[in-house]
Amino acid sequence: MARTRIAWAALAALAVAGAVTLPPTSALGDRDTTAAHRPDGPIVIGHRGASGYRPEHTLAAYELAARMGADYIEPDLVSTKDGQLVARHENEIGGTTDVAAKPEFASRKATKTIDGVAVTGWFTEDFTLAELKTLRATERIPDTRPRNTLYNGRYEIPTLQEVIDLSRRLSRELRRDIGIYPETKHPTYFQDAGLALEPKLVDVLNRNGLNHRGARVYVQSFEVANLKALKRHLRVPLVQLVNSSGAPYDFVKAGDKRTYRDLVTPDGLREIRTYAAGVGAAKDLVIPRDAKGFLQAPTSLVRDAHLRGLVVHAWTFRNENAFLPADFRTSSDSSAYGRAFDEYARFFAAGLDGVFADNPDTAVESR
Ligand code: G3P
Ligand code: CA
Repeated sequence: MARTRIAWAALAALAVAGAVTLPPTSALGDRDTTAAHRPDGPIVIGHRGASGYRPEHTLAAYELAARMGADYIEPDLVSTKDGQLVARHENEIGGTTDVAAKPEFASRKATKTIDGVAVTGWFTEDFTLAELKTLRATERIPDTRPRNTLYNGRYEIPTLQEVIDLSRRLSRELRRDIGIYPETKHPTYFQDAGLALEPKLVDVLNRNGLNHRGARVYVQSFEVANLKALKRHLRVPLVQLVNSSGAPYDFVKAGDKRTYRDLVTPDGLREIRTYAAGVGAAKDLVIPRDAKGFLQAPTSLVRDAHLRGLVVHAWTFRNENAFLPADFRTSSDSSAYGRAFDEYARFFAAGLDGVFADNPDTAVESR
């Protein structure tokens, strides 16, 4: 175990420093792989499940996404104290579970620095899987999605293995492959904590026969070094997540001054192409908004990425006015639905290869 941790840390450090010669990527090979992942048009990824309708990152949310037609379901991954991968958007679980109401865990409340930011709450790495399983998921944004609170307290925190088992069962029942699109969350943080996510992810994919070119799997990360390291161990396509501001935390920690914006320049995309098959871009990088929230002209990102053989999947599409561009809001009620179909139309016209959607049914119908 200790040796595995050291190996991953060393590998990541070497990749950052450019000291690891990464195996050459076959452009044709990756194009073949991503083409096989693409049905009749852009793929629809159930973002944290169908999180517009159920508390996110629960088996109920993933199942609904698949039944609504999503091609992939997306578990964000963090680690438990005993090294199990579980689906949560962040390791702090006070905002998406009932942990704060559990007196037996009151003493676990802590303040930690996560990717340079002080965070107070309860953290998955301080709980065994058995302890986490006593908690129940709650809606993250109850003011915007009050209906989802109906389901508070009903669902467990799922493991990655449970998400894979679900995707298999639903693939058989629905007679189409439901892919998985896991994301490593806070990879540097978990490496430093001695709970590296990457070896566990490789192990789970290997054990499930999902580490091959034909597997319906994408692996994504907001950091760079861990994707470069994963490239040496995974045969499935990798996706570099790119935000519209800030920088990958592994860059920040290493003193590398490059930002996410630098990653989507032609030079940046060329580098991404050496280890990834695609870019997972914040929507604003594809079609920016002006100061009043109205859509502007599309950027050249999709064209630039396609020229370099990269697919582009954008995030996050949500039906509520709160999240829509000003062009498509229908009222000042932030939780009411706006003209989501019009937003999809604009983004599909920009040439996207996939969308992360909280309301997968709307995305599928738009497609
Ligand atoms: O992974 C794509 C998208 O989900 C990134 O945003 O913060 O929802 O993980 P986030
Ligand atoms: Ca994600």
